[in-house]
Amino acid sequence: MGDFILETKGLTKRFGGFTAVNKVNLQIERGTIHALIGPNGAGKTTFFNLLTKFITPSSGQILYNGEDITRWEPAEIAEHGIIRSFQISAVFPHLTALENVRLSLQKRLNVSYQFWRSARVLASLNDEAMQRLDQVGLKRYADLHAVELPYGRKRALEIATTLGLEPELMLLDEPTQGMGAEDVGQVSDLIKSVSVGRTIIMVEHNLGVVAKLADRITVLNRGEVLAEGGYEEVSKNPEVMEAYMGVTAEEASA
Ligand SMILES: Nc1ncnc2c1ncn2[C@@H]1O[C@H](COP(=O)(O)OP(=O)(O)OP(=O)(O)O)[C@@H](O)[C@H]1O
Ligand SMILES: [Mg+2]
Repeated sequence: MGDFILETKGLTKRFGGFTAVNKVNLQIERGTIHALIGPNGAGKTTFFNLLTKFITPSSGQILYNGEDITRWEPAEIAEHGIIRSFQISAVFPHLTALENVRLSLQKRLNVSYQFWRSARVLASLNDEAMQRLDQVGLKRYADLHAVELPYGRKRALEIATTLGLEPELMLLDEPTQGMGAEDVGQVSDLIKSVSVGRTIIMVEHNLGVVAKLADRITVLNRGEVLAEGGYEEVSKNPEVMEAYMGVTAEEASA
């Protein structure tokens, strides 16, 4: 038996009469990169929202390190190390890269405004923020405002602010979305490097990135698990191919 950091059992979310996530049983092995893929509307983002308690499950269970966290509040989830990368818009555009990371550290330390204003605390936060920037290759951009960063570097900044919260389990929803090939390469390398010593669950449409990074893949379709396994296995699965081609055909006729 594997060492699972996260398990869902029969996890279900209904919106009125519509079931967006349907009895999903998932096991995420500690220390791996696990990709969640599937056509548009498959329920991937809803599944993430259930894990971070952004929305409440209709039924089923979520276990984290063996503990039932189904009824936990979002803040408790974050305090225990489950951190979702923010949307780009959540990086403050008119703060510098350094200030953005420092802010995430202040949030983690949960210290009062008066306290962290003291010069000593601020200096120690600056040191740590600089380390985080260095970790994602942004050291030389420290004093640039977030708005001035190239697109791929903004994503790196977003990941740096997530690292500041010391995640044990990182959830990344389409980290390479909207990027050109060069940025995709850089951000995938970055994800690989920050995956050391932690677990990552990522929703990703770019199958090249999935092939390169994911230790294991779960395919969702219409809210249900359609297939699971390594890339070779999953990409050859006829049901998976059909699910993807179905969407392509619809999109083509739209
Ligand atoms: N708050 C909501 N109320 C009603 N329906 C919702 C709500 N959130 C999501 N849905 C529906 O649930 C289904 C799954 O949506 P979800 O966003 O989880 O899909 P996804 O797999 O992330 O898709 P994409 O690849 O396009 O991001 C969709 O049909 C969506 O319209
Ligand atoms: Mg989505």
